[in-house]
Amino acid sequence: MTEKKKVVRLGILTGGGDCPGLNAVLRAAAKTALVRHSLEVVGFFDGYEGLIHDRARKLDYESVSGILTVGGTILGTSNRANPFAYPAGRGRNARFEDVSERVAETYRRRELDGVVIVGGDGTLSIAAQLAERWGINVVGIPKTIDNDLPGTDYTVGFFTAVDTAAEAIDKIHDTAQSHHRVMIVEVMGRNAGWLALYAGLASGGDVILIPEIPYDVECIAERVRWRSRRGKRFTIIVVAEGARARGEDMVVLERVRDKSESRRLGGIGYVLEEQLKKVVDVEIRTTILGHVQRGGSPCTFDRVLATCFGKLAGDLAAAGRFGFVTVVKGRDILPLPLREATGRQRLVEPDDPLIAAVLSTGGSMGVEE
Ligand code: F6P
Repeated sequence: MTEKKKVVRLGILTGGGDCPGLNAVLRAAAKTALVRHSLEVVGFFDGYEGLIHDRARKLDYESVSGILTVGGTILGTSNRANPFAYPAGRGRNARFEDVSERVAETYRRRELDGVVIVGGDGTLSIAAQLAERWGINVVGIPKTIDNDLPGTDYTVGFFTAVDTAAEAIDKIHDTAQSHHRVMIVEVMGRNAGWLALYAGLASGGDVILIPEIPYDVECIAERVRWRSRRGKRFTIIVVAEGARARGEDMVVLERVRDKSESRRLGGIGYVLEEQLKKVVDVEIRTTILGHVQRGGSPCTFDRVLATCFGKLAGDLAAAGRFGFVTVVKGRDILPLPLREATGRQRLVEPDDPLIAAVLSTGGSMGVEE
């Protein structure tokens, strides 16, 4: 979609689960819009909540200065505010309402010419719907520690989460060695195993379990025994929260009705511990890293990626080029049509070179090779 009208005022928001690098994105997009293109910028609070309830503040140069390295998002976020299925009522009266018209009203009332929307698949799919239904001009920027968005090699936040997980696994490695234990480390990764794969490879995990490859408990047990025969009396197992044993379901921690992603995952580490205890005679400990992976100062790669994405989004919006998501392909930072960048997930394929690297260096993916 191309909007010909001169662009004067831009909205911006961060939606969905947070991740490191969101402030770096806000800074780059706002500075580009303010300084390079002399636009006005309005920041909406808490993702789509801000657009639905018209809660926002003007962003000036000062307000986005000094936040490049700061974790979280100065605008706040929400992953329960889908304008097309907005939770209303409680308990037995809980229901979902389409309040998307309120977003269109806010957009008109504030005389916006476009909105930069920083989000994962859920947030960006909603952006595409808002564009289609209400003619709202959007530019998307992909972020998620899961790195599972189509069309882009990497999403903002992913590599910081890899660093956080790898640092934790390194520390667990030390204590595993001292106590001759099997140590299970559960990382995030709902449907895609990128975080487990990168962090596991970076920290020398012996077994890496991802949602895309349902594991075989006996195969993992055999790897523990095999290592023990070779004098390695400890084993590090990195497991993605969305991983599962062959023939079994994902481990659900909680069902959440008023959320688009209605299952909170977590706990596969403990399930695996119980499964393994039955077949190996070694002490086992489990650590769930959880939301520590979502916080912290972005790593240098994420700072650079966030800044390039924000800059491109500011340029696209100023030029009236809407309906795109910023993506990285190799060294190129490009606009990709919104529809091509949403609605499906980018999963780890069996022939991924990282899997080959795991196997070649004595690691296991929890199944027969
Ligand atoms: O999508 C990113 C992610 O971190 C997933 O790995 C995880 O399942 C989910 O968000 C948890 O989100 P929250 O705790 O915010 O509901």
